[in-house]
Amino acid sequence: MSAFKTLDDLGDVTGKVALVRVDLNMPMDGGSVTDTTRIQASAPTILELADAGAKVLLLAHFGRPKGQRNSTMSVSMTLDAVEDVLGREVMFIPEVAGPVVVQSIGILRNGDIGMLENTRFWAGEEANDPEFAAAIAAQGDIFVNDAFSAAHRAHASTERLARLLPAYAGRAMERELKALDAALGNPEHPVAAVVGGAKVSSKLAVLEHLVGQVDHLIIGGGMANTFLAARGVDVGKSLCEHDLTDTANAILDAADHAGCTVHLPYDVVVAKEFAANPPSLRTCNVHEVAADEMILDVGPQAVEALADVLKTCRTLVWNGPMGAFEIEPFDAATVALARTAAALTSEGSLVSVAGGGDTVAALNHAGVAGDFTYVSTAGGAFLEWMEGKELPGVAALRQ
Ligand code: 3PG
Repeated sequence: MSAFKTLDDLGDVTGKVALVRVDLNMPMDGGSVTDTTRIQASAPTILELADAGAKVLLLAHFGRPKGQRNSTMSVSMTLDAVEDVLGREVMFIPEVAGPVVVQSIGILRNGDIGMLENTRFWAGEEANDPEFAAAIAAQGDIFVNDAFSAAHRAHASTERLARLLPAYAGRAMERELKALDAALGNPEHPVAAVVGGAKVSSKLAVLEHLVGQVDHLIIGGGMANTFLAARGVDVGKSLCEHDLTDTANAILDAADHAGCTVHLPYDVVVAKEFAANPPSLRTCNVHEVAADEMILDVGPQAVEALADVLKTCRTLVWNGPMGAFEIEPFDAATVALARTAAALTSEGSLVSVAGGGDTVAALNHAGVAGDFTYVSTAGGAFLEWMEGKELPGVAALRQ
């Protein structure tokens, strides 16, 4: 952590232009932001800089416009939500560099906040082009990166800018990196990882890395079926990547070798159709799944055993749901295990960090996201971190 600067290392910023990389890539519906978590996370950084007298310019991408202006992906669509969360007026500036930006900076008073246009409207962003980055850097005095969730991209506004200006981690970035370090960088053992979700193929690198890092690997969701099949279990018509059974076996062997205990469900909740509370619903041993049944959740006995495992652990890292949690009652294992983890965290016996994709939705559904030690809003970045990769945006801050 000490390897990079934070806002605590800033001197007087009165009148200085702070380029602040945030993640405004928030879900929208009918032109309004439906989940403001990401901007809420960065609000303390933005307000701290503004209150210290800096002119704050927000830099962010939105969607994947592929280097072209596209009015449906203007970051200005997030302006109302950003102003609401900050409780301040924000000036939208429809460029990221050049005379319009310079003029706007002239209009902004110390402590005012501006929002630059979607960085991805310019091809130089994703190309991490030095000239594009230099043009942005020319109008700022300092760079603050508060967007961990975009730090897996080596783009101009996430990576190169940090090399061109005095660079600092924002408060959200700082908290995220501290939490992630406590979970996998420098954790208290025993460490458990819960990895769920539909497909092994999307999390191969995560699983391969984790078996060398954690003491218990709990595999749930559709991906558990591939591992069960690799162990010779007939999973009926469950979601299963049969072409990956060799890979699954190699991961199980590597875990064995590394002293990591892999936990697969031994009882499961099955049904013949994927619907809420279907008539064919039943719970059975994994060896009793019929040819026309699908495994849709981890069973209650396995959940109890997994809860006992968590009780022996000091650290937990969680990515992905244990079952088809969007549909009842296939949310039961995810909810039960999440509540156990939350209770252990509240008691002070477990450091629990979760993130990536559906995970936040699953924990919110269980009503316990607020009880985990840390819940990351990052998707791809969280997964790449779980793969053990150094993220380019973080590496650049360490320079
Ligand atoms: C995200 O939404 O996970 C980040 O903003 C990164 O977006 P990207 O996958 O389009 O780079």
